[in-house]
Amino acid sequence: MIDLSRRSAVVTGASGNLGGTVVRRLLDQGAHVAVAVRSVAQGDALRATLNGAVTAPTAPRLLVIQADLGVTGEMEALVTSVLRAWGRLDILVNAAGGFAPGGAAEPDLLAYRALWEQNVATAVTATAACLRPMRARRRGRIVSVGALAAFRGTAGATGYSMAKSALLRWTEALAAEVRDDGVTVNVVLPSTIDGRENRAAMPKADPTRWASPLEVANLILFLASDEASGITGASIPVTART
Ligand SMILES: NC(=O)c1ccc[n+]([C@@H]2O[C@H](COP(=O)([O-])OP(=O)(O)OC[C@H]3O[C@@H](n4cnc5c(N)ncnc54)[C@H](OP(=O)(O)O)[C@@H]3O)[C@@H](O)[C@H]2O)c1
Repeated sequence: MIDLSRRSAVVTGASGNLGGTVVRRLLDQGAHVAVAVRSVAQGDALRATLNGAVTAPTAPRLLVIQADLGVTGEMEALVTSVLRAWGRLDILVNAAGGFAPGGAAEPDLLAYRALWEQNVATAVTATAACLRPMRARRRGRIVSVGALAAFRGTAGATGYSMAKSALLRWTEALAAEVRDDGVTVNVVLPSTIDGRENRAAMPKADPTRWASPLEVANLILFLASDEASGITGASIPVTART
């Protein structure tokens, strides 16, 4: 069993379908978890889904911090709070991101840029802030959530494919840069994740063909564990039934 009881983690996108599942799985395995949320209400909603024990006023294992992922200073302040609370930062899960349709023949550069901000800049900024204590301790696990669309452009999802493929190349580059610092950097690539929004958007699709949030979260947990020390720079599809 993966034991994260001496580990502390930062999770972005924790108010989302996958991010919330990742937070619950990390807490289940004993980790201390800090989440960056955009609003207090999102933090309250997340807490309401968790066992109260993890938020106990004495020695809480969950920190909910309001921070804008795109703002370096806010992410550095979040990291400072984590270090003050728990003295260490071992894991970063970049789960923030999102999809919007858009074509290539009639490009909408503003929409492309928005997808870049949402899927790439969030991960790059959060990672830069978290890397500092990881490199200092010579131990770290960075896991980002990409998408299978990173491998191949498809009609109507241009900006999304471009952003997710940039995330993949950035993962490889960063992994190479920090490989001697004890920090691994990987990206998981689901195709479609089961959830309320996808079920509403694709009522005729068979959701059993999609990855469940738990399946994706379990892979993330493994990559965040000590057991995954041999894996870095990898882009791992989560597409068993797709
Ligand atoms: N759903 C799928 O089928 C699918 C497939 C492949 C890959 N993925 C990837 O999996 C990850 C999680 O997706 P999901 O299905 O869990 O989506 P979700 O439920 O919509 O959650 C997305 C999360 O990302 C946050 N976020 C988005 N843009 C942000 C920004 N600019 N700054 C800060 N936070 C931001 C959202 O926060 P707010 O609530 O504040 O917006 C939310 O917490 C994403 O990276 C997504 O691209 C999803």
